Amino acid sequence: MEAKAVKSNLVLILDFGSQYTHLITRRIRALNVFSLCISGTSTLQSIAEFNPSAIILSGGPHSVHAEGAPCFAPDFIDYVESKNISVLGICYGLQLIVQKLGGEVRIAGKHEYGRMGIEVEKVEGLFGNKKVGDKQSVWMSHGDEAVRLPEGFEVVARSHQGAVAAIENRARGFYGLQYHPEVTHSPEGMDTLKYFLFDICGISASWKMQDILDEELEVIKSTVGPDDLVICGLSGGVDSTVAATLVHKAIGDRLHCLFVDNGLLRWCERERVMETFERDLHLPVTCVDASEQFLSKLKGVTEPEKKRKIIGEEFINIFDSFAQELKQKLGKEPVYLVQGTLYPDVIESCPPPGSGRNHSHTIKSHHNVGGLPKNMKLKLIEPLKLLFKDEVRELGKIMGVPQGFLKRHPFPGPGLAVRVPGDVTLGDHLDTLRKADEIFIQSIKDAGIYDNIWQAFAVFLPVLTVGVQGDQRTYSHAIALRAVTSHDGMTADWYDFDHKFLADLSTKICNEVTGVNRVLMDITSKPPSTIEWE
Ligand code: XMP
Repeated sequence: MEAKAVKSNLVLILDFGSQYTHLITRRIRALNVFSLCISGTSTLQSIAEFNPSAIILSGGPHSVHAEGAPCFAPDFIDYVESKNISVLGICYGLQLIVQKLGGEVRIAGKHEYGRMGIEVEKVEGLFGNKKVGDKQSVWMSHGDEAVRLPEGFEVVARSHQGAVAAIENRARGFYGLQYHPEVTHSPEGMDTLKYFLFDICGISASWKMQDILDEELEVIKSTVGPDDLVICGLSGGVDSTVAATLVHKAIGDRLHCLFVDNGLLRWCERERVMETFERDLHLPVTCVDASEQFLSKLKGVTEPEKKRKIIGEEFINIFDSFAQELKQKLGKEPVYLVQGTLYPDVIESCPPPGSGRNHSHTIKSHHNVGGLPKNMKLKLIEPLKLLFKDEVRELGKIMGVPQGFLKRHPFPGPGLAVRVPGDVTLGDHLDTLRKADEIFIQSIKDAGIYDNIWQAFAVFLPVLTVGVQGDQRTYSHAIALRAVTSHDGMTADWYDFDHKFLADLSTKICNEVTGVNRVLMDITSKPPSTIEWE
C-alpha cells in the first residue's frame, strides 16, 4: 500500500525509538483514524508528502543532550506552524519540544518506567472535559525532565511529587505528555489521545477498512500496466491469500498464482487450500507437486538452517520455472511479484533512529523463506505493507475470504521439515506426524478452543521408546504436542489444556497412529524455547 492510498485525516508518528511507538499506531487506528509511523529523523519533504492532520513525536531511549540524539528535521517547527498542524510529544517527544522551543531539560542519570499518580491542573486541552483536581494513574517515563518551559507553555498536569506530567501551548499547537497514554497502565490515556485527535486537531473518526480496499484497488490498477502480468506464490496462509485476492480484484486473470506442494505440508493441506482458492476465491492458481524434488534434496540433511536454505532455494527454482513457462505460454514475461509483507515485517527491519544504521526495508529472511534473489528483475507489489495482522484479517473478511481460513494458525514456510528434528525423509516419519497433527488440531477444533490458541502442532521425535500396546511389546516413536498463546510470535506461553482433554488425546493418537506409543506435552514458553522445534 502506498502512502497516497490514504488521502486525509492521517496521523503521522515520528519514531524516536520507543518500544511503544507501534502501539500508538495501533491505538489510533483502533479509533478509526489512520496512522503511520516513520523515522523521527525523516526529511521535511517526506513528512509533507503524507499531508498529516496531526503529528505525534514518540518516546525514545535517548537524552536530548546526548551527542547525536535524534531530532526532527531542521525546519519542522516552521512547517507545522505554517500548516496549523498540532504536535503531541510523548516523553522524549515532549523533551524535544521543550528543548527546541527554548526551554530547559535536565538530565537524569537513569531511565526507567513506573506507575505514577498525576493530578489535572487545567482542562479543555489534553484533559478535555475532565475536572481540575482529577487524579489519574499513568505509566511514567522517568528520565530527563522539563525544568523550564518555553515561553507560552503551561503545565496542565503534574505528578504527585510535583514533576511536570503534561504541557500545552494551545496558541502554537504544541502539546506534551511525560507519560505513555497508549499503554494499558495508563487507563485514562486513551481519553487524552481522543481529546488530542478529535477536539484539538478536529480529526474525524472515519477510517474504514473498505476505504483501504477501494484506495488500494485504485493504486494497483494505476501501477500495473494494462498488459502486465503479475505472479504470486500462495503458501496457504492468510497474508499471501489476502494479498492475491486483492490484486486479483484489481487486475483479474493477469494475476497468476502458484501453490507448491513441497512434500512438507500438513494432512490434506493441498486439497484443502486449493478448494478455498478455486471454489471460494476463484483465484487463478497453478498447483505444482514438487514433493519429490524437495525431499530428494533434503535426504540425509539434519541441520535446521541447512534444511531451511535448501527449501528456500528450491522454492526460488520452481518460481523461476513458473515465470519461464508463463513467458512461453503467453509470450510475455511477468513484470510484478505480489508479496504478503505486513507492517510489522517492515518496521522490524528498520533500525531505530540514532542507532547509526540506515533505515532499510529488507524483510526478515525468517518470514520469507530463503529471501528473494539479489538480482531479481520482478518489481514488488506489497499491498498489505501498512497493515497489522488483525487488519489483514478484516480486509480478507470484507473481500469474502472465508472466516475459517482467516483464522488459521500460522504455518512456517519450511513446513514439517522444522517439526521432524533431523533427516525428514527417513521411514514414514512425515506421514506419522501428519496423522498425529491432524488428530491434535481436530480435537482442538472440536473442543472449541482453536481461536484461543496462537499456534498448535505436533512434533515427531526421532527416538524409539518401549511401550506395550494390546498384548504386544512395542518399540516405536514418540510425538510431542505444542500449543502456545502469543500476540505476535515473538514471545509465547504454553497453552494449559484441560487434563481430561489431554488424556483422551493421548489415547486417540496412540490408538490411531501406527508407529506411535508415547505422547509428550511441550510446556516451555518462548523464551527460553522457540515456538518451532527447529
Ligand atoms: P519461532 O520458532 O522462531 O517461530 O519461535 C516464531 C513464528 O515464526 C514461524 N516460523 C517461521 N516462519 N519460516 C517461516 O515462514 C521459517 O523458517 C519459520 N520458522 C518459524 C513459527 O511457526 C512461529 O509462528
